[in-house]
Amino acid sequence: MKILVIGGGGREHAIIWKLKQNPEVKEIFSSPGNGGISESATLLPACAENDWNSYVNLVKSKKIDLTIVGPEGPLASGIVDVFKEKKLKIFGPSKECAQLEGSKIFAKNFMKKHGIPTANFKVLEHHKEALNFLANLSLTTYKFPLVIKADGLAQGKGVVICQTMEEAKTIIGEMMVKKIFGPAGKKIIVEDKLEGREVSILAFCDGQNLKILPQAQDYKRAFDQDLGPNTGGMGSIAPSPLTESQIKEIERFILQPFLKGLQNENLDYRGIIYFGIMLTENGANVLEFNVRFGDPETQVILPLIETDLLEIMEAVISQTLSKISLKILNQTAVSAVLASNGYPGKYETDKEIFGLNEIEQKENILCFHAGTIKKDGKFFTSGGRVLNIVGLGGSREEAKNNCYAALSKISFEKMQFRTDIAS
Ligand code: AMP
Ligand code: GLY
Repeated sequence: MKILVIGGGGREHAIIWKLKQNPEVKEIFSSPGNGGISESATLLPACAENDWNSYVNLVKSKKIDLTIVGPEGPLASGIVDVFKEKKLKIFGPSKECAQLEGSKIFAKNFMKKHGIPTANFKVLEHHKEALNFLANLSLTTYKFPLVIKADGLAQGKGVVICQTMEEAKTIIGEMMVKKIFGPAGKKIIVEDKLEGREVSILAFCDGQNLKILPQAQDYKRAFDQDLGPNTGGMGSIAPSPLTESQIKEIERFILQPFLKGLQNENLDYRGIIYFGIMLTENGANVLEFNVRFGDPETQVILPLIETDLLEIMEAVISQTLSKISLKILNQTAVSAVLASNGYPGKYETDKEIFGLNEIEQKENILCFHAGTIKKDGKFFTSGGRVLNIVGLGGSREEAKNNCYAALSKISFEKMQFRTDIAS
Protein backbone atom coordinates (compact mmCIF):
# COMPACT_ATOMS: atom_id res chain seq x y z
CA MET A 1 0.00 0.00 0.00
CA LYS A 2 1.31 3.45 -0.98
CA ILE A 3 -0.21 6.53 0.58
CA LEU A 4 0.07 10.26 -0.13
CA VAL A 5 -0.61 12.68 2.73
CA ILE A 6 -1.23 16.27 1.62
CA GLY A 7 -0.11 18.92 4.12
CA GLY A 8 2.98 19.57 6.18
CA GLY A 9 2.17 20.34 9.80
CA GLY A 10 2.03 18.56 13.13
CA ARG A 11 -1.34 17.11 12.22
CA GLU A 12 0.05 15.45 9.10
CA HIS A 13 3.10 14.15 11.01
CA ALA A 14 0.75 12.55 13.55
CA ILE A 15 -1.38 11.00 10.78
CA ILE A 16 1.73 9.54 9.13
CA TRP A 17 3.08 8.24 12.46
CA LYS A 18 -0.23 6.44 13.07
CA LEU A 19 -0.49 5.03 9.52
CA LYS A 20 3.03 3.62 9.81
CA GLN A 21 1.84 1.26 12.54
CA ASN A 22 0.10 -0.81 9.85
CA PRO A 23 2.58 -3.25 8.23
CA GLU A 24 0.55 -3.13 4.98
CA VAL A 25 1.69 0.48 4.54
CA LYS A 26 4.82 0.13 2.45
CA GLU A 27 5.53 3.69 1.46
CA ILE A 28 4.24 7.13 2.39
CA PHE A 29 4.62 10.30 0.38
CA SER A 30 4.02 13.70 1.91
CA SER A 31 3.45 16.95 0.07
CA PRO A 32 5.05 19.21 1.12
CA GLY A 33 5.76 17.49 4.48
CA ASN A 34 8.43 18.84 6.84
CA GLY A 35 11.78 17.94 8.37
CA GLY A 36 10.34 15.45 10.84
CA ILE A 37 8.08 13.84 8.27
CA SER A 38 11.09 13.37 5.97
CA GLU A 39 12.34 10.69 8.40
CA SER A 40 9.36 8.45 7.66
CA ALA A 41 8.01 9.57 4.28
CA THR A 42 9.24 10.71 0.89
CA LEU A 43 8.71 14.45 0.52
CA LEU A 44 7.18 15.79 -2.68
CA PRO A 45 6.85 19.50 -3.46
CA ALA A 46 3.36 20.99 -3.01
CA CYS A 47 1.38 21.42 -6.21
CA ALA A 48 0.04 24.88 -6.98
CA GLU A 49 -3.25 25.74 -5.30
CA ASN A 50 -6.23 24.42 -7.23
CA ASP A 51 -3.98 22.48 -9.60
CA TRP A 52 -5.41 19.20 -8.42
CA ASN A 53 -4.68 17.52 -11.72
CA SER A 54 -0.97 17.73 -10.86
CA TYR A 55 -1.71 15.59 -7.81
CA VAL A 56 -3.72 13.23 -10.00
CA ASN A 57 -0.71 12.81 -12.29
CA LEU A 58 1.62 12.37 -9.34
CA VAL A 59 -0.58 9.72 -7.77
CA LYS A 60 -0.82 7.86 -11.07
CA SER A 61 2.91 8.03 -11.79
CA LYS A 62 3.91 6.84 -8.29
CA LYS A 63 1.11 4.24 -8.23
CA ILE A 64 -0.25 5.64 -4.97
CA ASP A 65 -3.27 3.72 -3.65
CA LEU A 66 -4.75 6.26 -1.27
CA THR A 67 -4.53 10.04 -0.77
CA ILE A 68 -5.32 11.68 2.56
CA VAL A 69 -5.98 15.43 2.70
CA GLY A 70 -4.87 17.24 5.88
CA PRO A 71 -5.83 20.92 5.46
CA GLU A 72 -9.19 22.50 4.56
CA GLY A 73 -8.06 24.51 1.52
CA PRO A 74 -7.86 21.64 -0.98
CA LEU A 75 -11.10 20.12 0.37
CA ALA A 76 -13.01 23.38 0.02
CA SER A 77 -11.79 23.86 -3.52
CA GLY A 78 -12.75 20.37 -4.62
CA ILE A 79 -9.70 18.08 -4.68
CA VAL A 80 -11.87 15.13 -3.64
CA ASP A 81 -14.25 15.62 -6.55
CA VAL A 82 -11.36 15.72 -9.02
CA PHE A 83 -9.90 12.49 -7.60
CA LYS A 84 -13.25 10.71 -7.55
CA GLU A 85 -13.90 11.62 -11.15
CA LYS A 86 -10.61 9.91 -12.03
CA LYS A 87 -11.57 6.91 -9.85
CA LEU A 88 -8.69 7.55 -7.43
CA LYS A 89 -9.14 6.73 -3.76
CA ILE A 90 -9.09 9.75 -1.47
CA PHE A 91 -9.98 10.43 2.18
CA GLY A 92 -11.96 13.62 2.78
CA PRO A 93 -15.32 15.21 2.02
CA SER A 94 -16.46 16.51 -1.36
CA LYS A 95 -16.49 20.21 -2.25
CA GLU A 96 -20.21 20.42 -1.56
CA CYS A 97 -19.81 18.93 1.93
CA ALA A 98 -16.68 20.99 2.65
CA GLN A 99 -18.85 24.11 2.55
CA LEU A 100 -19.64 23.25 6.16
CA GLU A 101 -16.21 24.76 6.86
CA GLY A 102 -15.68 26.82 3.69
CA SER A 103 -18.79 28.96 4.16
CA LYS A 104 -19.94 29.99 7.61
CA ILE A 105 -23.25 31.08 6.07
CA PHE A 106 -23.76 27.58 4.66
CA ALA A 107 -22.87 26.06 8.04
CA LYS A 108 -25.18 28.35 10.04
CA ASN A 109 -28.09 27.81 7.64
CA PHE A 110 -27.52 24.04 7.86
CA MET A 111 -27.60 24.21 11.67
CA LYS A 112 -30.70 26.38 11.74
CA LYS A 113 -32.55 24.16 9.29
CA HIS A 114 -31.70 20.98 11.16
CA GLY A 115 -32.19 22.23 14.69
CA ILE A 116 -28.54 22.11 15.79
CA PRO A 117 -28.03 24.58 18.66
CA THR A 118 -25.84 27.52 17.64
CA ALA A 119 -25.61 31.25 18.40
CA ASN A 120 -28.30 33.48 16.84
CA PHE A 121 -26.94 35.03 13.67
CA LYS A 122 -27.62 37.50 10.91
CA VAL A 123 -26.17 37.21 7.41
CA LEU A 124 -25.01 40.49 5.87
CA GLU A 125 -24.23 40.49 2.17
CA HIS A 126 -23.24 44.10 1.48
CA HIS A 127 -21.31 46.78 3.34
CA LYS A 128 -24.28 49.16 3.27
CA GLU A 129 -26.57 46.48 4.64
CA ALA A 130 -24.05 45.78 7.42
CA LEU A 131 -23.78 49.46 8.43
CA ASN A 132 -27.53 49.74 8.37
CA PHE A 133 -27.82 46.70 10.61
CA LEU A 134 -25.39 48.25 13.12
CA ALA A 135 -27.22 51.60 13.03
CA ASN A 136 -30.45 49.82 13.97
CA LEU A 137 -28.91 47.38 16.43
CA SER A 138 -31.06 48.61 19.31
CA LEU A 139 -34.14 47.43 17.39
CA THR A 140 -32.77 43.88 17.25
CA THR A 141 -32.00 41.24 19.90
CA TYR A 142 -28.25 41.67 19.29
CA LYS A 143 -25.98 43.65 21.58
CA PHE A 144 -22.27 44.08 22.30
CA PRO A 145 -20.04 42.16 22.54
CA LEU A 146 -20.85 40.99 19.01
CA VAL A 147 -19.05 38.29 17.08
CA ILE A 148 -18.29 39.20 13.47
CA LYS A 149 -17.22 36.44 11.08
CA ALA A 150 -16.01 36.44 7.50
CA ASP A 151 -18.04 33.91 5.52
CA GLY A 152 -15.12 32.15 3.80
CA LEU A 153 -11.80 30.59 4.80
CA ALA A 154 -9.49 33.09 6.48
CA GLN A 155 -6.80 30.86 8.01
CA GLY A 156 -8.42 30.98 11.42
CA LYS A 157 -8.34 34.80 11.55
CA GLY A 158 -11.83 35.50 10.25
CA VAL A 159 -13.59 35.68 13.64
CA VAL A 160 -13.50 38.96 15.57
CA ILE A 161 -15.17 39.67 18.88
CA CYS A 162 -16.15 43.35 18.98
CA GLN A 163 -16.81 45.19 22.23
CA THR A 164 -17.89 48.53 20.73
CA MET A 165 -19.75 49.99 17.77
CA GLU A 166 -16.54 51.63 16.58
CA GLU A 167 -14.67 48.31 16.54
CA ALA A 168 -17.55 46.65 14.71
CA LYS A 169 -17.64 49.34 12.01
CA THR A 170 -13.88 49.13 11.57
CA ILE A 171 -13.75 45.37 11.19
CA ILE A 172 -16.75 45.31 8.86
CA GLY A 173 -15.00 47.91 6.68
CA GLU A 174 -11.78 45.89 6.71
CA MET A 175 -13.55 42.68 5.75
CA MET A 176 -16.09 43.96 3.24
CA VAL A 177 -14.40 47.01 1.70
CA LYS A 178 -10.65 46.69 2.25
CA LYS A 179 -11.00 42.92 1.74
CA ILE A 180 -8.27 41.96 4.22
CA PHE A 181 -9.38 38.33 3.79
CA GLY A 182 -9.94 38.62 0.05
CA PRO A 183 -13.18 37.11 -1.24
CA ALA A 184 -13.69 35.32 2.11
CA GLY A 185 -14.96 38.60 3.61
CA LYS A 186 -17.35 39.54 0.83
CA LYS A 187 -20.24 38.40 3.01
CA ILE A 188 -20.21 38.29 6.78
CA ILE A 189 -22.15 36.97 9.74
CA VAL A 190 -22.90 38.81 12.94
CA GLU A 191 -23.76 36.61 15.88
CA ASP A 192 -24.26 36.56 19.65
CA LYS A 193 -21.21 35.91 21.77
CA LEU A 194 -21.47 32.67 23.69
CA GLU A 195 -19.85 32.11 27.08
CA GLY A 196 -18.48 28.84 28.39
CA ARG A 197 -15.79 26.23 27.96
CA GLU A 198 -14.80 25.19 24.45
CA VAL A 199 -14.33 21.58 23.45
CA SER A 200 -13.46 19.98 20.12
CA ILE A 201 -15.39 16.86 19.18
CA LEU A 202 -14.05 14.97 16.20
CA ALA A 203 -15.74 12.03 14.56
CA PHE A 204 -15.23 9.83 11.55
CA CYS A 205 -18.26 10.08 9.28
CA ASP A 206 -19.22 7.91 6.29
CA GLY A 207 -22.49 9.69 5.62
CA GLN A 208 -24.50 7.02 7.47
CA ASN A 209 -22.63 6.69 10.73
CA LEU A 210 -20.42 8.67 13.06
CA LYS A 211 -17.63 7.26 15.23
CA ILE A 212 -16.74 9.78 17.88
CA LEU A 213 -13.11 10.22 18.99
CA PRO A 214 -11.81 11.27 22.42
CA GLN A 215 -12.81 14.88 23.12
CA ALA A 216 -9.99 17.39 22.91
CA GLN A 217 -9.23 20.91 24.02
CA ASP A 218 -7.14 23.35 22.04
CA TYR A 219 -5.26 26.22 23.73
CA LYS A 220 -5.65 29.00 21.18
CA ARG A 221 -4.07 32.01 22.87
CA ALA A 222 -0.36 32.70 22.50
CA PHE A 223 0.54 33.16 26.17
CA ASP A 224 -0.08 31.59 29.57
CA GLN A 225 -3.44 32.14 31.28
CA ASP A 226 -5.11 32.52 27.90
CA LEU A 227 -3.54 35.90 27.25
CA GLY A 228 -2.27 37.34 24.01
CA PRO A 229 -3.43 36.93 20.43
CA ASN A 230 -5.20 33.90 18.96
CA THR A 231 -2.90 31.41 17.27
CA GLY A 232 -3.35 28.22 15.30
CA GLY A 233 -3.13 26.48 18.69
CA MET A 234 -0.35 26.41 21.30
CA GLY A 235 -1.19 23.07 22.85
CA SER A 236 -3.90 20.50 23.38
CA ILE A 237 -5.16 17.82 25.72
CA ALA A 238 -7.32 14.74 25.20
CA PRO A 239 -9.56 13.54 26.60
CA SER A 240 -10.97 16.86 27.76
CA PRO A 241 -13.20 16.06 30.72
CA LEU A 242 -16.91 15.86 29.89
CA THR A 243 -19.60 14.32 32.05
CA GLU A 244 -21.64 11.38 30.82
CA SER A 245 -24.69 13.65 30.55
CA GLN A 246 -22.77 16.28 28.53
CA ILE A 247 -21.70 13.57 26.08
CA LYS A 248 -25.28 12.27 25.84
CA GLU A 249 -26.55 15.81 25.25
CA ILE A 250 -24.00 16.41 22.48
CA GLU A 251 -24.93 13.12 20.82
CA ARG A 252 -28.66 13.78 21.02
CA PHE A 253 -28.80 17.47 20.14
CA ILE A 254 -25.79 17.86 17.86
CA LEU A 255 -24.47 14.60 16.36
CA GLN A 256 -27.81 12.94 15.56
CA PRO A 257 -29.38 16.05 13.97
CA PHE A 258 -26.13 16.55 12.04
CA LEU A 259 -26.31 13.07 10.51
CA LYS A 260 -30.02 13.44 9.76
CA GLY A 261 -29.31 16.83 8.19
CA LEU A 262 -26.68 15.31 5.90
CA GLN A 263 -29.12 12.68 4.78
CA ASN A 264 -31.98 15.14 4.24
CA GLU A 265 -29.73 17.34 2.14
CA ASN A 266 -28.27 14.39 0.22
CA LEU A 267 -24.80 15.33 1.41
CA ASP A 268 -22.56 12.28 1.00
CA TYR A 269 -20.09 13.23 3.74
CA ARG A 270 -17.08 10.93 4.04
CA GLY A 271 -14.15 11.99 6.17
CA ILE A 272 -13.56 13.57 9.52
CA ILE A 273 -16.05 16.05 10.91
CA TYR A 274 -14.94 18.41 13.67
CA PHE A 275 -17.51 20.13 15.87
CA GLY A 276 -16.18 23.23 17.67
CA ILE A 277 -18.49 23.34 20.68
CA MET A 278 -19.14 25.87 23.43
CA LEU A 279 -20.55 24.38 26.63
CA THR A 280 -22.84 27.22 27.72
CA GLU A 281 -25.17 27.53 30.70
CA ASN A 282 -27.99 26.71 28.32
CA GLY A 283 -26.36 23.63 26.87
CA ALA A 284 -23.85 22.75 24.16
CA ASN A 285 -23.78 25.03 21.09
CA VAL A 286 -21.86 24.56 17.86
CA LEU A 287 -19.43 27.40 17.09
CA GLU A 288 -18.11 25.95 13.87
CA PHE A 289 -17.55 22.86 11.78
CA ASN A 290 -14.21 21.84 10.39
CA VAL A 291 -14.17 19.23 7.66
CA ARG A 292 -10.79 17.76 8.60
CA PHE A 293 -8.63 16.78 11.53
CA GLY A 294 -7.89 19.66 13.92
CA ASP A 295 -4.36 20.87 14.49
CA PRO A 296 -3.11 20.54 17.31
CA GLU A 297 -5.98 18.25 18.46
CA THR A 298 -4.93 15.39 16.17
CA GLN A 299 -1.54 15.23 17.88
CA VAL A 300 -3.25 14.21 21.14
CA ILE A 301 -6.21 12.26 19.73
CA LEU A 302 -4.43 9.80 17.45
CA PRO A 303 -2.05 8.49 20.16
CA LEU A 304 -5.16 7.49 22.14
CA ILE A 305 -6.68 5.39 19.35
CA GLU A 306 -5.70 1.75 19.37
CA THR A 307 -7.63 0.80 16.23
CA ASP A 308 -5.69 0.91 12.98
CA LEU A 309 -6.14 4.27 11.25
CA LEU A 310 -5.93 2.92 7.71
CA GLU A 311 -8.66 0.40 8.46
CA ILE A 312 -10.94 3.18 9.73
CA MET A 313 -10.23 5.42 6.76
CA GLU A 314 -10.94 2.61 4.30
CA ALA A 315 -14.23 1.97 6.11
CA VAL A 316 -15.15 5.65 5.82
CA ILE A 317 -14.47 5.60 2.09
CA SER A 318 -16.41 2.35 1.49
CA GLN A 319 -19.21 3.46 3.82
CA THR A 320 -18.75 0.50 6.18
CA LEU A 321 -17.91 2.51 9.29
CA SER A 322 -20.68 0.73 11.23
CA LYS A 323 -18.51 -2.41 11.16
CA ILE A 324 -15.58 -0.72 12.93
CA SER A 325 -15.36 -0.82 16.68
CA LEU A 326 -13.06 1.96 17.82
CA LYS A 327 -10.72 1.01 20.62
CA ILE A 328 -9.62 3.95 22.73
CA LEU A 329 -6.72 3.71 25.19
CA ASN A 330 -7.46 4.65 28.76
CA GLN A 331 -4.76 7.33 28.79
CA THR A 332 -4.35 11.08 28.63
CA ALA A 333 -2.25 12.92 26.05
CA VAL A 334 -0.96 16.47 26.50
CA SER A 335 0.82 18.42 23.79
CA ALA A 336 2.71 21.70 24.01
CA VAL A 337 3.72 23.61 20.91
CA LEU A 338 7.21 25.07 20.59
CA ALA A 339 6.91 28.19 18.44
CA SER A 340 9.26 30.75 16.94
CA ASN A 341 9.58 33.97 18.91
CA GLY A 342 6.99 36.49 17.72
CA TYR A 343 4.45 33.94 16.47
CA PRO A 344 1.60 34.48 15.52
CA GLY A 345 3.08 37.80 14.34
CA LYS A 346 6.41 38.15 12.56
CA TYR A 347 9.08 35.62 13.46
CA GLU A 348 12.54 34.53 12.39
CA THR A 349 13.35 31.09 11.02
CA ASP A 350 16.41 28.97 10.25
CA LYS A 351 17.38 28.44 13.90
CA GLU A 352 19.04 25.13 14.66
CA ILE A 353 16.98 22.85 16.93
CA PHE A 354 18.89 21.02 19.68
CA GLY A 355 18.00 18.04 21.87
CA LEU A 356 15.67 16.09 19.58
CA ASN A 357 17.73 12.91 19.90
CA GLU A 358 17.28 13.01 23.69
CA ILE A 359 13.53 12.47 23.44
CA GLU A 360 13.50 10.05 20.53
CA GLN A 361 11.99 6.60 21.16
CA LYS A 362 11.30 7.47 24.80
CA GLU A 363 8.36 5.80 26.44
CA ASN A 364 5.28 8.05 26.77
CA ILE A 365 6.83 10.81 24.62
CA LEU A 366 6.09 11.69 21.02
CA CYS A 367 7.40 14.57 18.96
CA PHE A 368 5.48 15.75 15.91
CA HIS A 369 7.16 18.31 13.70
CA ALA A 370 5.43 21.31 12.12
CA GLY A 371 7.68 24.14 10.84
CA THR A 372 11.00 22.29 10.55
CA ILE A 373 13.40 21.38 7.78
CA LYS A 374 16.27 18.91 7.82
CA LYS A 375 19.62 19.98 6.37
CA ASP A 376 22.79 17.84 6.52
CA GLY A 377 21.32 15.69 9.27
CA LYS A 378 20.37 18.68 11.45
CA PHE A 379 16.93 20.19 12.06
CA PHE A 380 16.17 23.89 11.65
CA THR A 381 13.06 25.99 12.26
CA SER A 382 11.08 26.96 9.17
CA GLY A 383 7.72 28.19 10.48
CA GLY A 384 5.76 29.78 13.31
CA ARG A 385 4.73 26.60 15.04
CA VAL A 386 7.82 24.41 15.08
CA LEU A 387 7.29 21.26 17.18
CA ASN A 388 4.53 19.51 19.12
CA ILE A 389 5.84 17.69 22.18
CA VAL A 390 3.34 15.09 23.36
CA GLY A 391 3.38 13.43 26.78
CA LEU A 392 1.23 10.38 27.52
CA GLY A 393 0.21 9.12 30.94
CA GLY A 394 -2.39 7.43 33.08
CA SER A 395 -3.58 10.80 34.35
CA ARG A 396 -3.64 14.41 33.24
CA GLU A 397 -0.87 15.22 35.71
CA GLU A 398 1.37 12.40 34.51
CA ALA A 399 0.83 13.23 30.84
CA LYS A 400 1.57 16.88 31.50
CA ASN A 401 4.72 16.10 33.48
CA ASN A 402 5.96 13.80 30.72
CA CYS A 403 5.27 16.50 28.12
CA TYR A 404 7.12 19.25 29.98
CA ALA A 405 10.02 17.00 31.03
CA ALA A 406 10.61 16.18 27.35
CA LEU A 407 10.11 19.79 26.32
CA SER A 408 12.88 20.89 28.69
CA LYS A 409 15.42 18.90 26.62
CA ILE A 410 14.66 20.84 23.43
CA SER A 411 15.98 24.25 22.57
CA PHE A 412 16.36 26.70 19.74
CA GLU A 413 17.07 30.41 19.76
CA LYS A 414 14.19 32.44 21.25
CA MET A 415 11.89 29.44 21.59
CA GLN A 416 8.36 30.39 22.71
CA PHE A 417 5.85 28.11 24.45
CA ARG A 418 3.08 28.05 27.04
CA THR A 419 3.90 26.65 30.46
CA ASP A 420 0.28 26.05 31.46
CA ILE A 421 -1.06 23.49 28.99
CA ALA A 422 -3.26 21.03 30.93
CA SER A 423 -2.88 23.02 34.16
P1 AMP B 1 -14.65 29.67 14.54
O1 AMP B 1 -13.65 29.75 13.43
O2 AMP B 1 -16.06 30.00 14.15
O3 AMP B 1 -14.55 28.49 15.43
O4 AMP B 1 -14.18 30.77 15.56
C1 AMP B 1 -12.89 30.73 16.12
C2 AMP B 1 -12.98 30.97 17.58
O5 AMP B 1 -13.71 32.16 17.83
C3 AMP B 1 -13.75 29.89 18.33
O6 AMP B 1 -12.95 28.79 18.62
C4 AMP B 1 -14.18 30.66 19.56
O7 AMP B 1 -13.12 30.75 20.48
C5 AMP B 1 -14.46 32.02 19.02
N1 AMP B 1 -15.89 32.15 18.68
C6 AMP B 1 -16.50 31.91 17.50
N2 AMP B 1 -17.82 32.14 17.57
C7 AMP B 1 -18.07 32.55 18.82
C8 AMP B 1 -19.24 32.94 19.51
N3 AMP B 1 -20.43 32.98 18.93
N4 AMP B 1 -19.12 33.29 20.83
C9 AMP B 1 -17.92 33.27 21.43
N5 AMP B 1 -16.77 32.92 20.82
C10 AMP B 1 -16.84 32.56 19.53
N1 GLY C 1 -7.46 23.57 16.31
C1 GLY C 1 -8.41 24.23 15.52
C2 GLY C 1 -8.35 23.90 14.09
O1 GLY C 1 -7.72 22.95 13.69
O2 GLY C 1 -8.97 24.61 13.33
